[in-house]
Amino acid sequence: MKPTLAFIKELALQAGDILQNYVREDLDVRHKSRTDLVTNADHAAEKLIIGAIKKAFPNHAINAEESGEWEGAAEHQWYIDPLDGTLNYAHGVPIYCISIGYAYQGKMHLGVIYDPTRDEMFAAERCKGATLNDQPMHVSEQTDLINSMLVTGFPNEIWGAPDDNTDNFFRFSQLAQTVRRLGSAALDGAYVAAGRLDGFWENEVNEWDVAAGALLVEEAGGVVTNIYGDKDYLKKPVTILSANPVIHAKMLDVLAEVRKKRNYN
Ligand code: IPD
Ligand code: CA
Ligand code: CA
Repeated sequence: MKPTLAFIKELALQAGDILQNYVREDLDVRHKSRTDLVTNADHAAEKLIIGAIKKAFPNHAINAEESGEWEGAAEHQWYIDPLDGTLNYAHGVPIYCISIGYAYQGKMHLGVIYDPTRDEMFAAERCKGATLNDQPMHVSEQTDLINSMLVTGFPNEIWGAPDDNTDNFFRFSQLAQTVRRLGSAALDGAYVAAGRLDGFWENEVNEWDVAAGALLVEEAGGVVTNIYGDKDYLKKPVTILSANPVIHAKMLDVLAEVRKKRNYN
């Protein structure tokens, strides 16, 4: 049996309450690597979400950031990031969210991103459109890169990454109005879907960072691929390029141009 969007929204709201109820003094911050943090709030929110899914849909497969892969029927696949933007959260910067995606038979079917600091619920169901707090949302109509606000992120261990994204960042900074780095890949996707940002790319992400956001953008009229233009954006290694259709095509060209230049050097 498939879940409903209402079920997922409720989970996201409850997880949001958990995140908001941790006062910073109670936060237990641990290092997964030098710059990748996890807190007890991440774990508590994930426990709530997985507990509810396992109770309602015991045979579904789950891929969650903190607890990893839970085996189940492959046609029902969940992607969960209980707290996307942990570094922001740990520093008291209010840019973070809960991201829950559900794929049916290999295709994203439901996606919810909830920002508890602004009480913004971004949601989408395949072929039924995307909403922000129950109002329809659409990608931007911007067609010029020079007037576009783009967003990106960088690998956690940037010093060892084969493709650290700095050359793309530099080139887009020259060609676009500006490039932001918000620190939450899920909210980056949600903001593209809401038309606040015109395009988002990132070279090294995980399914749970981008699955829900990708469906939001598609259902809001945008285009989502990996950074090479492949429509199968959850194929590993996962990279992401999501934007309105015109800006997507332009960004794809710039990414290819930067790669070509890189290979010449
Ligand atoms: C990170 C954020 C960040 C992105 C990283 C992600 P986390 O997720 O989404 O914006 O650049 O790639 O790992 O660790 O805060 O859940
Ligand atoms: Ca994440
Ligand atoms: Ca996370």
